[in-house]
Amino acid sequence: MTAHSAFARNQWYVAAWSAEVGGDLLGRTVLGEPIALYRTGEGRAVALADRCVHRRFPLSRSRLDGDKVVCGYHGFTYDTTGTCVFVPGQKRVPRTARVGSFPVAEVDSLVWVWIGDRDAADPAAIPRAPHLAGEGWTTVSGMEPVDCDFGLLVDNLMDLSHETYLHGGHIGTPEVAETPITTEVDEEAGVVRVSRHMQDAECPPFYARSTGIEGRIRRRQDIEYFAPCLYLLHSRISPAGQDAPLFETEITYAITPSAPGRVYDFWAVSRNFAVGDPEVSGFLRDANHTVVMQDVDALNVLQRCLDTETEGYQELSINIDTGGLAARRILARLAAQ
Ligand code: FES
Ligand SMILES: [Fe+2]
Repeated sequence: MTAHSAFARNQWYVAAWSAEVGGDLLGRTVLGEPIALYRTGEGRAVALADRCVHRRFPLSRSRLDGDKVVCGYHGFTYDTTGTCVFVPGQKRVPRTARVGSFPVAEVDSLVWVWIGDRDAADPAAIPRAPHLAGEGWTTVSGMEPVDCDFGLLVDNLMDLSHETYLHGGHIGTPEVAETPITTEVDEEAGVVRVSRHMQDAECPPFYARSTGIEGRIRRRQDIEYFAPCLYLLHSRISPAGQDAPLFETEITYAITPSAPGRVYDFWAVSRNFAVGDPEVSGFLRDANHTVVMQDVDALNVLQRCLDTETEGYQELSINIDTGGLAARRILARLAAQ
């Protein structure tokens, strides 16, 4: 993979958590397109191109007047479709006074946008993460931008053997890297599944403190990656040698290419135990944020290194890379479509 891979445009990408989109304008860049997001009085999320047609001032740095956006520079005013309905100092609004708008779909507390051909946007194609807003689950979440190519974050998430080395003392234990994986690829659907089942493993603090299990555990990690954007890690923990009690944690990542060399890392940890316990929520939020920042730091460093490589350097792949390589193949195919 080159340092900056091409993006698949005709796909849904997560631009924000639902909770981030409200009565204030939010600026995000998806596939290199600057977007201004906000929510109408009726509660509908809107995504407009984030550049005023007049002198290109960012609408995300402007203000809302009801459901309309008033440019913060000279007051050009846009409705939810991006059509300009007011300009200062004259009655006539030029016919070309409009900014682009993007299809939006809000599913499972994620705000998805479509940057490609508008006619091809089908919200039914959005992959689901029902635990994020599901009954019986509690979720902590966040987002970190990373100064690396989208592909580096996909590689990172597809191979969890790095937990042992990069996240030791947090979520990594020796058994993660020691245990072989099984990989299943559905090329046509664009889904990669990677599983690692540890029968008798050390319990890392992430699970010891959240579940209360003392001693060794059975730990199962089942990844489902719905290319290009949604990644689910179904994590199941029980005491070693037992199936119960079973603690299920759904770890969600939405991986959104912002621009070449920049990616949004949306993360969430959902659990179906201790659901009303604020102490467990606080612990998991801090613990996962720490883990995410370890990845962010590593990927920032890695990208700087790759940027100085001469063309044609040779990577070396082994068994642990099977899922990541399958993901790269699928992403390359989607980008070429
Ligand atoms: S740049 Fe927006 S009104 Fe002038
Ligand atoms: Fe990691």
